[in-house]
Amino acid sequence: MRIAITGANGQLGRALVATLADQHELIPLGHDQLELTDPATVDHIAATGADVVIHAAAYTNVDGCARDPILAYRVNGLGTRYVALGCRRIQATMVYISTNEVFAGDGQRPYVEDDPTRPINPYGQSKLAGEQVVRTLISQHFIVRVAWLFGGERNFVRTVLRLASNPPAQGLRMVADEIGSPTYTYDVAIGLARLINTDYYGTYHFVNDGICSRYEFAAEILRQLGMSTPLHPIRLRDFQRDSTPPPYTPLANLAGAALGITFRPWQEALAVYLARLRNELLS
Ligand SMILES: NC(=O)c1ccc[n+]([C@@H]2O[C@H](COP(=O)([O-])OP(=O)(O)OC[C@H]3O[C@@H](n4cnc5c(N)ncnc54)[C@H](OP(=O)(O)O)[C@@H]3O)[C@@H](O)[C@H]2O)c1
Repeated sequence: MRIAITGANGQLGRALVATLADQHELIPLGHDQLELTDPATVDHIAATGADVVIHAAAYTNVDGCARDPILAYRVNGLGTRYVALGCRRIQATMVYISTNEVFAGDGQRPYVEDDPTRPINPYGQSKLAGEQVVRTLISQHFIVRVAWLFGGERNFVRTVLRLASNPPAQGLRMVADEIGSPTYTYDVAIGLARLINTDYYGTYHFVNDGICSRYEFAAEILRQLGMSTPLHPIRLRDFQRDSTPPPYTPLANLAGAALGITFRPWQEALAVYLARLRNELLS
């Protein structure tokens, strides 16, 4: 298949390019080639002549989105509309990468694919606007929600590593009441490679198996690295930031599992990622 990938230089985009390149003809579209806020994105996407467009680009800085909600909407909402209109013109299947932050985070169990959405911050609101426009404009769509991604240059694992290599005297402080589903970008990419070979259109939750808090995630990273850096739990309300994260947003992968697309536990995926980082550092 001919597959165009937006956000090709981002964290997930790079994993998608690496995973799909063997089997498909790829058209990677980085930010330097495609500006989502520009309506000409419609023509640009149409000109790719792609069978499938994977729209992974987004304004992902959640605190930046909180400071500038209009920009968040222009990139994640309107920009997604332009990508969808381009897909519609050439009848391409559209894959829209969405987020756990479309949910309010006040539930008692992991969210399933059709649970009601109610984002509580501008990033989640702008990503939900993207979901809605994809559902309206494209019948042949996959909306794939992911969460707490690691695998690239900027992510929570890298942040913990950086902090732990030069810790403050009192040790590290991590939020213990923000709960989610850590997810390895390369596992998502393998799942997507399988999903786009089907016509089971609809909404999916592609996350590694298991649930944890930010505190537990950090503790596991340190444990796997054999680091004894002191780590202290704090509460979300004690961690000042511009965005308000939804507290409890683990995602349940029901629709993917029904097709046989399942994901290993996040701890196993983390071990693979840390091994890759070690090799990168040594080479
Ligand atoms: N990271 C997570 O934990 C997480 C969690 C849930 C969902 N998601 C979703 O997963 C997808 C991939 O996330 P990621 O972690 O790979 O993000 P990322 O590393 O920030 O990559 C996003 C890419 O989009 C590009 N981009 C930003 N603004 C753009 C614009 N106006 N026009 C064109 N391209 C633009 C960025 O380019 P520049 O860097 O040059 O701006 C970047 O290469 C996104 O849709 C995100 O919403 C991510």
